[in-house]
Amino acid sequence: DTHDPTSLRTPIVAVLGHVDHGKTSLLDKIRGSAVIEGEAGAITQHIGATAVPLDVVSSIAGELVDPDDFDLPGLLFIDTPGHHSFTTLRSRGGALADIAILVVDVNDGFQPQTLEALDILRRSETPFIVAANKIDTVPGWNENENSPINDTYESQSDRVTSRLDEKLYEIIGNLSDEGFSADLYWRVQNFQRNVGVVPVSAMTGEGVPDLLAVMMGLSQRYMKEEMEIDVAGPGVGTVLEVKEEKGFGKTIDIVLYDGTIRADDTIVVGGQNDPIVTEVRALLQPRPLAEIRTESRFEKVDEVSAAAGIKVAAPELGDAMAGAPVRVVRDRDLDDVIDEVEAELADIAVDTEEQGVVVKADTLGSLEAMADALEDAEVPIVRAEVGDVAPRDVSVASTAEDPKQQVILGFNVDVLSDADRRAGVDDVTIFTDEVIYQLIEEYEEYVEEIER
Ligand code: GTP
Ligand code: MG
Repeated sequence: DTHDPTSLRTPIVAVLGHVDHGKTSLLDKIRGSAVIEGEAGAITQHIGATAVPLDVVSSIAGELVDPDDFDLPGLLFIDTPGHHSFTTLRSRGGALADIAILVVDVNDGFQPQTLEALDILRRSETPFIVAANKIDTVPGWNENENSPINDTYESQSDRVTSRLDEKLYEIIGNLSDEGFSADLYWRVQNFQRNVGVVPVSAMTGEGVPDLLAVMMGLSQRYMKEEMEIDVAGPGVGTVLEVKEEKGFGKTIDIVLYDGTIRADDTIVVGGQNDPIVTEVRALLQPRPLAEIRTESRFEKVDEVSAAAGIKVAAPELGDAMAGAPVRVVRDRDLDDVIDEVEAELADIAVDTEEQGVVVKADTLGSLEAMADALEDAEVPIVRAEVGDVAPRDVSVASTAEDPKQQVILGFNVDVLSDADRRAGVDDVTIFTDEVIYQLIEEYEEYVEEIER
């Protein structure tokens, strides 16, 4: 609306959880339910995200969501693959996600990545709810497609509900062990103080109406002020991934959380060395599923406004880093924008010592999380960088005086083969893992070995 430049943007919802606990299935179910409700066209698929407008939320949630009670435009869900580090989901001053859904398989319970997700939600102070998923797998379960949880509970036998309750209370107990006071969502009065647990099935859609209603209510109640943005202003976002794309070269997938980005904008992006100043060549959105067989997977768009996920093609993006800031220049002073990007990067920069271990991570956010965890473990860092383990990292590690520090800790990264070879020669030990605390445990065990 051109008369009122400030408006409420869509809250960004991160969907987190251990591998295979059902994050993607849950989003697929929401998309599928929209198809059933005849609202398929209203859902837009973004790069790495799915936008669900309020009227669709309301038609899926039925009587649980009255659209008149809300003035936020809907929800933007970001799916984070289990193998990928969701620590990328950072923005200036903290978490990129406004709220989060932590998906936990009721059978599998808490797993390493569940704990890791909780740790990051805690550190970033992101409000979240727990989706206790796969309730349909409770033996004897009576399926009620897409039904609210209360209705489906009423149609289950006592044996089935008590079995499910047992599993739910186990999750509530696990949350409490981690320092979160939690309860079944219908018992929670204050979602800022208590974590609500929503039983769902991404397979049958049971509990999905409740999940959407709780997310919508939570954002409306506690986040409305933070959602007020100048939509037409120059865009601000975070790089989710740097990717080679046929016909476009290196591209960046970004989540825009403020303002607008246009196909003719100049942008400043956080890079491995200096901030990258470049001109947008194309803004790319995934084509609707029906058109995917046409010549290209992407559709060029002229502009997008926050909140949105979009692929940006531009020259010079080779050095861009996942987790780094992106800012549109538009009619602002270029140097000011560069300063802002530098200031943001400096905020994330890890303090290094004269002596310590070498740390490599896949994104800026995960590097930051690694540094925090190593600080807690009182392990000094000599060098911390985004990227795969390369021969020069081995050189640095090999100069450590203390054998405990002739070590490289790689989080979610590969070890280049010449680095691996070199490490063998130089007596440098490389640890890699996809879970931060496991990586640190491995290192601590190694240190104990040495000291023994
Ligand atoms: P990653 O992206 O690999 O981390 O996994 P994910 O969390 O996205 O899990 P995904 O949605 O791919 O689901 C993993 C498996 O669990 C698939 O085989 C799903 O069909 C199954 N699944 C997910 N949700 C449910 C559910 O509610 N009930 C049942 N029975 N199966 C489910
Ligand atoms: Mg997935």
